[in-house]
Amino acid sequence: EKGGYDHFMLKEIHEQPQVLRDTLREIKAIQQVVDEIREIKRICFVACGTSYHAALVGKYLFESILHIPTDAIIASEFQYTANALDEETLTIFITQSGETADTLNALRAANKKSKTLAIVNVLGSTATREADHVIYTRAGPEIGVAATKTYISQLACIYMLAATIGQKPDIIEDLRKLPEEMEKILEKDELIKDIAKTYKDESDFLFIGRGFSYPTALEGALKLKEITYIHAEAYASGELKHGPIALIEKGTPVVAIAPPPLFLKSEVHGDKEFRNSHTLTLSNVKEVKSRGAEVIGLGSEDDEEFKKNTSDYISFNPSIREEISPILYIIPLQLLAYYISVMKGEDPDHPRNLAKCVTVV
Ligand code: F6R
Repeated sequence: EKGGYDHFMLKEIHEQPQVLRDTLREIKAIQQVVDEIREIKRICFVACGTSYHAALVGKYLFESILHIPTDAIIASEFQYTANALDEETLTIFITQSGETADTLNALRAANKKSKTLAIVNVLGSTATREADHVIYTRAGPEIGVAATKTYISQLACIYMLAATIGQKPDIIEDLRKLPEEMEKILEKDELIKDIAKTYKDESDFLFIGRGFSYPTALEGALKLKEITYIHAEAYASGELKHGPIALIEKGTPVVAIAPPPLFLKSEVHGDKEFRNSHTLTLSNVKEVKSRGAEVIGLGSEDDEEFKKNTSDYISFNPSIREEISPILYIIPLQLLAYYISVMKGEDPDHPRNLAKCVTVV
């Protein structure tokens, strides 16, 4: 049943190109939901854990590309913050299981004030019965406790939702290029195993990224914590100088995520290159390197400047730019966590203290 793989997690990581192809077929169902909803002035994403990281990508996408005011809220914090919901707000719940207690509590509260939409993997789960509208992620059953393929499918649904609401078919075109790129990254298995071997005995990791790469940093750090028990922290790169750079010492591994940047005009910043997340992350990379960090870079294969400031480099097709990168760039970080877990003799499918579905608050 593991299809020749040693663990379900590895099988599910390798299923991701096919999962993306399957999820892309849901576009019609998504168009139907968008037709039903209409008149949305504000969006509020709510979720926990990995699903929250998908929510955060949604915030960057809806705000920067569609200019719709959007929040991403951790479900257990929802009751303390979200008092501004109204009829013109769409509250979107992202949950693989559809049974997470914190998410269901928030859904019940939001149902009273706003339109609700649930993006769910498990058919017939509680969230699918209680939300006004439902989109299925169609990733198939996920057995590994650490979410992998369901994260990809959640992201795909969010991008398709944005493409439909914002009438931006080019986003769908970009998504269609990704399964092939995912296959190329999965072939870098040996490189990632080598990186895992180099760093498996470290006690702390830092993950950094800006903009769309910040959720990828958070998710990469979460995967590492969950299945290897190594302490990992993720920061928006710009926050480094406000404290965490004090942690860097000789040999500290820093995973830096810096895909080719998206340039957008901003109503706030005018024409300035304010979105040049790439140049700015690169200067953060130089800062940590000069303090002795070992930088593991994730970036474009033609990015010579980034490459020369890293100890290890995982390269991607240069045509995959920042705004679509979360769906692709997380894959080597899932593999890195997986291989470190196995090399440490842990069981990545059954991490200690964790359950697949958290039905208590
Ligand atoms: C991480 C993980 C958890 C879940 C979280 C939400 O690998 O699996 O962080 O993402 O418990 O679960 P769902 O999506 O079922 O609401």
